[in-house]
Amino acid sequence: MTILISVGSGKGGSGKSFVAVNLASSLAAKGKHTVLIDLDIGGANDHILFGLLNPTVTLEDFLSHKVKSLEEIIQPIAKNLGLIAGAGNNLQTANMPYATKGRLMRHVMSLDADIVIIDIGAGSHYSSLDFFMFADHQICVTTPEPAAVLDLFRFIKLAMIRKMMSAFIAHNQVSKALRTMDFDSKEAVLDFAEEREPGCRDAVAKTVEAFAPHLVVNRVVNGRKLNIFKLVRMLHDYMGVALPGLTEIPEDEAVLDAVCSYLPVVSTAPLSPASVSIDGLADKLLKHIGLA
Ligand SMILES: Nc1ncnc2c1ncn2[C@@H]1O[C@H](COP(=O)(O)OP(=O)(O)OP(=O)(O)O)[C@@H](O)[C@H]1O
Ligand SMILES: [Mg+2]
Repeated sequence: MTILISVGSGKGGSGKSFVAVNLASSLAAKGKHTVLIDLDIGGANDHILFGLLNPTVTLEDFLSHKVKSLEEIIQPIAKNLGLIAGAGNNLQTANMPYATKGRLMRHVMSLDADIVIIDIGAGSHYSSLDFFMFADHQICVTTPEPAAVLDLFRFIKLAMIRKMMSAFIAHNQVSKALRTMDFDSKEAVLDFAEEREPGCRDAVAKTVEAFAPHLVVNRVVNGRKLNIFKLVRMLHDYMGVALPGLTEIPEDEAVLDAVCSYLPVVSTAPLSPASVSIDGLADKLLKHIGLA
């Protein structure tokens, strides 16, 4: 069975692509057949981090029906590692039509791999929220800065609300409800659901029951991560979410050196502090998903 792991964040530039690329590389080096798919529509750059400056095939070929299956656009990167490069800016897909999204998700689920890592665009476009929640497991990335932490709280909250709402109102009404209403907690969404459709409360709560994202705090300098405790508390108190795992990745100059050589830092400097953290994250995830 293919296991899907999405990597999301609230604020752009927190290090999603860095985590996705290096985690995928680390998992592949550990012998897991891994596919990295860049779903940061409009801001895709994972291919550049692997030195593929002009990929010959991208997600755009799949979305525009030029190819029939995702398998056709997987580019081999290293042993056990394939990449589906993201679509460019010219595609109006940030809020992709429902049917397109459904087709993409069906194909992602049936990719032939042990693990599929999904790099998600920053912010709260509905597609980003849906792709994030659609995976079997979620990793959320933030830096320790208050603005990034707050944006991550908002991102997780909106992703959960959208998922819960999809369980009781038609998909075209979900976006409208999200645009026009403001919910400040999981309970408020459940109350709204019950009011609209008496008896549905438990079923709606069930949609996010297993949601327990792994938190990655990236670019930590001198162990400073005070804001994280606030995030953990807010997610628990307002959204009923526990964050069972925490990985800290330090600010590391080896990351920039790696980017400049178009290779993942786990390959160029496997003993650097950031690489050691990514390696630890890969081990934790493999244990958690039962593939260790
Ligand atoms: N631990 C780290 N140490 C040093 N530099 C880092 C670290 N993590 C990420 N960076 C650098 O921070 C920048 C942003 O990272 P990245 O592109 O991965 O973020 P992102 O969340 O994917 O951004 P976007 O939202 O634009 O897709 C990059 O230049 C990356 O090399
Ligand atoms: Mg990115």
